[in-house]
Amino acid sequence: MTQATARAYPNIALVKYWGKADEALIIPVAGSMSMTLDDYATTTTVRLDDAADALNLNGTELDHTDSATQRVGAFLDIVRGLAQERGLDTAAAHAQVTTVNEGPTAAGMASSASGFAALAQAASAAYGLDLDTRDLSRLARRGSGSACRSVINRFAVWHAGDSDETSYAEEIAAPDLAMIAVTVASGAKKVSSRAGMRATAATSPFYRAWITTTEESLNEMVRACADADFTRIGEITEAHAMRMHAVINACEPPIRYLAPASYQVFDAVAELRANGVEAYATADAGPNVVVISRPEDAEQIAGALGQYAENGEAKVLRPGPGAHVVNADD
Ligand code: PMV
Repeated sequence: MTQATARAYPNIALVKYWGKADEALIIPVAGSMSMTLDDYATTTTVRLDDAADALNLNGTELDHTDSATQRVGAFLDIVRGLAQERGLDTAAAHAQVTTVNEGPTAAGMASSASGFAALAQAASAAYGLDLDTRDLSRLARRGSGSACRSVINRFAVWHAGDSDETSYAEEIAAPDLAMIAVTVASGAKKVSSRAGMRATAATSPFYRAWITTTEESLNEMVRACADADFTRIGEITEAHAMRMHAVINACEPPIRYLAPASYQVFDAVAELRANGVEAYATADAGPNVVVISRPEDAEQIAGALGQYAENGEAKVLRPGPGAHVVNADD
């Protein structure tokens, strides 16, 4: 196979990943848990080519010195290394990568997760690697940590592990949920998650407590999912998000991802709860807020929160599929 196209979706963590135990292999300091979305897909085609590696992102051919091209090139080197281990004759080939994001790139809608999950799936197929879900998740992890969860259908737990072999995501059963995305600002974030994680590990006095509390939250979350206890899932999600922002805020110099508009959404969600509508909020390394609810409440909640979104509309999302090949030919 010399060409393959794959699609993957972003995921939003209910128990967050924030901190690496191994920077080179992207082994996290704690496990995490997420829902894969059913919108904002990334579609990526990898075509083996004798010329140098090249990247076309959303219709623009990027220069080979661009940081995105270099990151993709480094990832392709990992794929070529796997092809070499297996003695495949594709191992020396360069690749032309064409990728289209339906969601906003680098604006907190996890485009790096969908991007590297789609690239892992398309590249592994194009280079002739026949990876099972676990190995595909491990590969996607090397591109961007959270990408290992976008390989998985619906709900994923990323087992932190302590080596390349033991750090991967797998599907877990959870009660049906909806997410309501409130995009308060669609611009690129100021501090990348990589830089933010480094600063947190190096300067936040709460980092140790964050690591232990994340392991506890994950264990509790797995139990709440097994019990289909929506209320507990929501409570853990919101408390855990606030803890992640607290450990980040405590950096020196401080880092702040949430904006005034983000806090307005958290307040509005608390008000919905006070009025008997169960909703809980979370936010990644950026100002946008994602609310979780039971599926039947989602439209009403989106209606109430649309006023806080940049474009006046909150978007309802549902559990979506893991990374998959959509078309491949020889
Ligand atoms: O995979 P990265 O390096 O983009 O890190 C993602 C970090 C968060 O989105 C803030 C949390 C998470 O678990 O997705």
